[in-house]
Amino acid sequence: MSAGLQRIAAVGAGRMGRGIAIAFAYAGHQVALVDIKPRDAASTERLAQESLGEIGSSLAMLASLGMFDPAQVEPIMGRVRFVGRDGAAAALAEADTIFEGVPEVLDAKREAFEFIGRHARAGATVASTTSTILVTELAAFISHPERLLNAHWLNPAYIVPLVELSPHAGTDAAVLAGMKALLERAGKVPVVCAAAPGFIVPRLQALVMNEAARMVEQGIASAEEIDKATRYGFGFRFAAIGVVEFIDFGGNDILYYASRYLAGQIDAARFAPPAIVERFMAEGRNGLKSGRGFHDYQGIDSDAYRRDVLGRSLGMLRHLDLLQAPGMALRAGQHQPSALPRPSATESATQAVTVAAKG
Ligand SMILES: NC(=O)c1ccc[n+]([C@@H]2O[C@H](COP(=O)([O-])OP(=O)(O)OC[C@H]3O[C@@H](n4cnc5c(N)ncnc54)[C@H](O)[C@@H]3O)[C@@H](O)[C@H]2O)c1
Repeated sequence: MSAGLQRIAAVGAGRMGRGIAIAFAYAGHQVALVDIKPRDAASTERLAQESLGEIGSSLAMLASLGMFDPAQVEPIMGRVRFVGRDGAAAALAEADTIFEGVPEVLDAKREAFEFIGRHARAGATVASTTSTILVTELAAFISHPERLLNAHWLNPAYIVPLVELSPHAGTDAAVLAGMKALLERAGKVPVVCAAAPGFIVPRLQALVMNEAARMVEQGIASAEEIDKATRYGFGFRFAAIGVVEFIDFGGNDILYYASRYLAGQIDAARFAPPAIVERFMAEGRNGLKSGRGFHDYQGIDSDAYRRDVLGRSLGMLRHLDLLQAPGMALRAGQHQPSALPRPSATESATQAVTVAAKG
């Protein structure tokens, strides 16, 4: 299977199917948006109009926001075709990669994979966009399960770069490698994780979102204050540095002590440090400052690394228009966040550090 210009099929013409269709058509692939649910002709026509109409208006909106030249909307649209159940078998038979996006109901998934299994080429890759059903369970529904893996996109699929891939033990290694290459060529950032509930992001964000809701419930902060805190502190930071990298950067010992404190003060079940944090603490393996943590820092230039992390953070500040020149407080009432010149797109984060230092 070539990772080049593949024929893509998105089965299920709903939120994710449409988003995935946009993502691949934008990248240059021919995409069939396939509806396999039995319906009458009028209902099929309505779904075709609605889904292609929404794809067109999403593309027009992205172009109007400056993502690309509006003249490109038509050629991108020209790469997407809607296929109803009557043409589904033929569309699946010619697809190189098929993304299943039918509702999150086990029976719907079973029927979809039986249908896909009957009509897809044995060599085609098949990926489920399911949020919660493990690939190990889905593998039983399809013929040639070695071609199956889960590919969890985040909505909107044409905006969010991340796609979480989860193979099962029988997934062909070439299928996983091919999917990674296909996604990367389409400008996506694939990551691989085990077949475990919640992939990576939904599992992390469920904890964060529940804790935020709890803080509102307990009157600790208003929804507005928590939203501000997450945008300008929490989310801002993790767009520049990975969460595990951040443990190492701040120090595993800091996480250990903070977790023990919060476990004692609030709830041990939610905040107690996991065994790996305790073990690293006992071993003195506390991240950057001790040469090893979750990552290995031995032999690296730690000043250059710190500078790189700072540069990434400054890049985010600049992106958010929050980078200030020195002495802004002296000019009372003249708060101008973007007082520093923006670097050209080719300037690196490290150069951004230099600009700030000179500013
Ligand atoms: N919406 C999200 O934010 C999101 C994010 C990540 C993953 N997912 C996952 O993507 C999958 C699709 O979710 P969605 O939000 O696009 O759903 P959706 O309801 O928007 O779209 C589902 C599509 O499948 C069709 N359909 C309904 N019943 C069917 C059946 N029995 N057989 C075949 N097709 C049927 C619908 O007409 C619709 O076109 C789910 O597994 C969901 O968990 C959704």
